[in-house]
Amino acid sequence: RWNVNKSANLQNIEMNLQEAANLIKDGHVVAFPTETVYGLGGNALDPQAVTDIFKAKGRPNDNPLIVHIANRDGLNELVTEIPPIAEKLMDAYWPGPLTLIFHANNKVPTNVTAGLSTVAIRMPSHPVARELLEKSRVPVAAPSANLSGRPSPTTADHVWTDLEGRIAGVVDGGATGVGVESTVLDISGEVPMILRPGGITREELTEVCGHVELDGALMDDGQAPKSPGMKYTHYAPKGSLTLVRDWELIQELATKARAEGKRVGVLTTEERVNHYDADFVYACGSDGDLKTTAALLYNGLRAFDDQEIDVIFSEVFDERGVGAAIMNRLEKAAGGRMIK
Ligand code: TXA
Ligand code: MG
Repeated sequence: RWNVNKSANLQNIEMNLQEAANLIKDGHVVAFPTETVYGLGGNALDPQAVTDIFKAKGRPNDNPLIVHIANRDGLNELVTEIPPIAEKLMDAYWPGPLTLIFHANNKVPTNVTAGLSTVAIRMPSHPVARELLEKSRVPVAAPSANLSGRPSPTTADHVWTDLEGRIAGVVDGGATGVGVESTVLDISGEVPMILRPGGITREELTEVCGHVELDGALMDDGQAPKSPGMKYTHYAPKGSLTLVRDWELIQELATKARAEGKRVGVLTTEERVNHYDADFVYACGSDGDLKTTAALLYNGLRAFDDQEIDVIFSEVFDERGVGAAIMNRLEKAAGGRMIK
């Protein structure tokens, strides 16, 4: 088995990158860092490698993958057309945490797109991801490198916790920066539509596109989401999570649950980390610093598991900017449990 590089030693990363690229070329699946979360990569043009990605994650096969590319030439090889709006968006935000949905050509294996006529493509900005893509010389299909349903990994340790024994290896590039996944934007229709809020904000997209719509399913639970992945319970820690607006109510609920013998956790920010009396309190950044909250969110959700917490209460965050992605992930992780 290929060895994990647990240190962030740059020289090791260099060596491992060539090795990881060779593994991908040879049809294996390898985890690697991107600026959002770690991805589980395999040759997107090799249907068997793609099957192995689904298998390693335990991912339902009706949930399509994002194809990662190193440059624009890589894009031309996968799509039937590049609409003018795509050019503008790519100029503004590629490389970076923006995934665009194009009409797929017939080179893209059907298990990558889960049978859809469209394909999701992104050009990551993380230097390790970029170098891996350049060295492997193939488009790389990569979902987040977690077991299906679990919080996405933002460190190599998170990947290893979920996938040890299931994958060829992980390239350790330290903690990722953005911390939540890329924004998925559908530009295959008339009006650009956000299917998943993420690292590039709605405000940033609006600057380039003028008008951007939000998939109705992101706000209304009754509707079927256009991004297949959004219908699954996701990003969930093992303990049961509830979102609560009122800080005093969080303490009341925590005290009650502890009296019932539960181990209770609270997700808050630096400002209130000493305000709560609970078994484990996680400070997810500080008030108003949503970037740090996003960067720490999945680490926090996983920390509750490490502390064997049964019941988690989380504060709610501002939904502006990257806050939209933070709240989307928290709502999914809570399976909709929210006390206003
Ligand atoms: O930041 C990210 O995007 C990370 C890193 C590794 O790049 N990747 C990631 O992949 O989050 P994954 O597989 O966990 O999420 C992909 C999302 C899913 O919600 C999936 O349903 C959606 O993209 N998707 C993929 N192809 C699609 C398509 N053709 N149409 C609509 N949604 C699509
Ligand atoms: Mg995922």
